Amino acid sequence: MSTPLEVHLDAGTQEAALRADVVAGLTATPKRLPPKWFYDARGSELFEQITELPEYYPTRAERAILTARAPEIARLTGARTLIELGSGYSTKTRLLLEALRPTLFVPMDVSPTALEAAAAHVGTDFPSVRVQGIVGDITRHLGFLPQAPDRLVAFLGGTIGNFEPAERAHFLADVRAVLRPGEHLLLGTDLVKSPKVLVPAYDDAAGVTAEFNKNVLRVLNRHLQADFDVDGFAHVALWDADHEWIEMRLRSRWPQRVTIPAVDLVVEFKTGEEIRTEISAKFRREGVEKELTEAGFTLTHWWTDPEARFALSLAQVTI
Ligand code: AVJ
Repeated sequence: MSTPLEVHLDAGTQEAALRADVVAGLTATPKRLPPKWFYDARGSELFEQITELPEYYPTRAERAILTARAPEIARLTGARTLIELGSGYSTKTRLLLEALRPTLFVPMDVSPTALEAAAAHVGTDFPSVRVQGIVGDITRHLGFLPQAPDRLVAFLGGTIGNFEPAERAHFLADVRAVLRPGEHLLLGTDLVKSPKVLVPAYDDAAGVTAEFNKNVLRVLNRHLQADFDVDGFAHVALWDADHEWIEMRLRSRWPQRVTIPAVDLVVEFKTGEEIRTEISAKFRREGVEKELTEAGFTLTHWWTDPEARFALSLAQVTI
């Protein structure tokens, strides 16, 4: 059973947010764009392809943990409502749905196409679960999450790593604020490991991640009538050892001038000049526990895959 998508991101608001991010990010030094603009229909599809690449281990590692622990998560939380933030296609979520059999499933994502696909497959496979998809920005629309009983909020895939540390603190405090004491958060975090493993995960041999990265330029071309020459930029993935995060960048191959009529902007690029398009932070247990505690959660369980590449944390709103 699935109710129609609840939309808190109408096209006008989205375009205004995109324009604001583009003006702020492309007039800054160094230039930057927020990763949420990767995810139009094509970007969401490219990300699904990334999750199947041999180099991109996080999805498989997290799935292994969920497969092993979903029954335990169901028993420990007793959740009757599953909320998934940044849900995408909710592919891994079926493992949680199978174990929990919740009354209500609430996926929230910026991509309506991904949510529609999720609602369709969950509706078919779990006919007794009511699906209430919410098109929204997890940094702005948590207040629209339903006041249902015994909620478990899942934020999987390591997406929390896309936030800078200060944004992470805000975000976790916001999640805490919508929950009641005793309710739960299930948080997926990719772990610090050798750059020999990390870098190829963000720079695969088949070039899918490069396409995903460049997709943000196509989004700007389509929505803001920009004239980015997508082939004029090279995909860059590097490990920042001080911050312990992966950065993706787009590097201008030659001097170029890009016109973005919708925001009345002309942007100049020197050869080699870069736009930072994503950070993907990697974590250690002590750091995750500290950030959860500071946000008002108690870490109750920490599970990793057998190779300790990825972790799932179960936390409870501190009573
Ligand atoms: C969806 C945010 C978890 O950071 O690993 C994959 C996105 N970027 N390859 C990540 C991504 C490049 C992914 N998250």
